Amino acid sequence: MPKPTILMLSGPNLNLLGEREAHIYGSTKLADIEQSTRNHAEKLGFALEAKQSNIEGELVTWVQEARKSAAGVIVNAGAYTHTSIALHDAFKALGKPFIEVHLSNLYAREDFRHHSYLAPLASGVIIGLGALGYELAVDALAKLMKKAA
Ligand code: DQA
Repeated sequence: MPKPTILMLSGPNLNLLGEREAHIYGSTKLADIEQSTRNHAEKLGFALEAKQSNIEGELVTWVQEARKSAAGVIVNAGAYTHTSIALHDAFKALGKPFIEVHLSNLYAREDFRHHSYLAPLASGVIIGLGALGYELAVDALAKLMKKAA
């Protein structure tokens, strides 16, 4: 039987991790975070597919596709977290557990980062723990999916 897949979705500017604002986001590159998250998921019996886009509509399409192709989703929608009703609607239709992750502590930053269009729909939100947040999100999803099975 194929392993259930976790989709790890990254939004705008996260392709610049390790280069932009390292004092906020750390020096680890997105590809390295994706790889360590994949290793962790595989240890727990899941496959992990990682995708990043700077384009809102592309992220919406991938969330729609995840309705069929993924068992759960980990999402860091970057700045679209704070603006995107389209992503809110896509996640509303997902029908699978998802965890919202942010590298930085949004509540220690500007007010406009304090609101998330996704958080009310998420199974949980992990913020401010850097790359560790993604591993914790895999742990949480694994438990939630086991419970649901
Ligand atoms: C972020 C926080 C967002 O406010 C910001 O726009 C990002 C990264 C984080 O992971 O801390 O791009 O999602």
